[in-house]
Amino acid sequence: MTPVGPGRDPWAALLAPLVQAGVGPGTLAAVRAVPRDRFLPAAARPAAWEDRALPIGCGQTCSQPLMVAVVTEALEITGGERALEVGAGSGYQAAVLRAAGVATVVAIEWWPQLAARARATLSALGVTGVEVRLGDGGPGAPDRAPFDCVVVSAAAPAVPRPLLGQLAPGGRLCCPVTAAADLEQLWRVRRRADGGLTWDDLGPCRFVPLRGAFGQAPATRRGEAGAGVPEAEAP
Ligand SMILES: C[S@@+](CC[C@H](N)C(=O)[O-])C[C@H]1O[C@@H](n2cnc3c(N)ncnc32)[C@H](O)[C@@H]1O
Repeated sequence: MTPVGPGRDPWAALLAPLVQAGVGPGTLAAVRAVPRDRFLPAAARPAAWEDRALPIGCGQTCSQPLMVAVVTEALEITGGERALEVGAGSGYQAAVLRAAGVATVVAIEWWPQLAARARATLSALGVTGVEVRLGDGGPGAPDRAPFDCVVVSAAAPAVPRPLLGQLAPGGRLCCPVTAAADLEQLWRVRRRADGGLTWDDLGPCRFVPLRGAFGQAPATRRGEAGAGVPEAEAP
């Protein structure tokens, strides 16, 4: 674990891998504006400044800062965008999107406990413009579409079709797609002005599996150790 004590800048440890990966200054500033420790349960807080995914309960994780930064960068945020996130988790990615200049975020979360905690954290930090919804985010949020930015924060067997349909002209979508056992590929999809889609492979990544109508079959999900909550309790 990276020691964080008097005289040490905890941000240095968190940001170094992002700088090394070529993340731009706008995204770095957005990451730096969001106190990651506040999005974590007490037990995980000492590791908040490490560049790795951390447990938030229900078998889920607060995403790795490098992945949050890569996704934020890939969305090419210029300011004022309307965004959708599928898999709000702790609310961390949504807060970074707001800090990067996105105007509004609809962030949908499967687990009631996580949605409630994300709402409470965002509210305590004074982050406005994020609506945390409970439910299956695979079908998106047709009532708030179209979106300029869409983030899927869990690995899907394929990019959920409704989310492509809710992408505004010029809009960008990032989604990890399962490529093989233990391997996901991060895709960016851009809706061109002519209505067509341009696909960019942004490289390998690791995310927890997407659930629900457009998610992974229960037998093929992995990486949810210790969920401890029966499937029947989910929405
Ligand atoms: C990597 S985690 C959290 C990521 C979040 N960006 C963060 O930094 O805390 C992904 C989240 O997606 C949620 N999830 C999985 N399938 C979902 C679905 N179909 N609809 C909504 N949320 C889903 C999980 O419960 C989990 O909280």
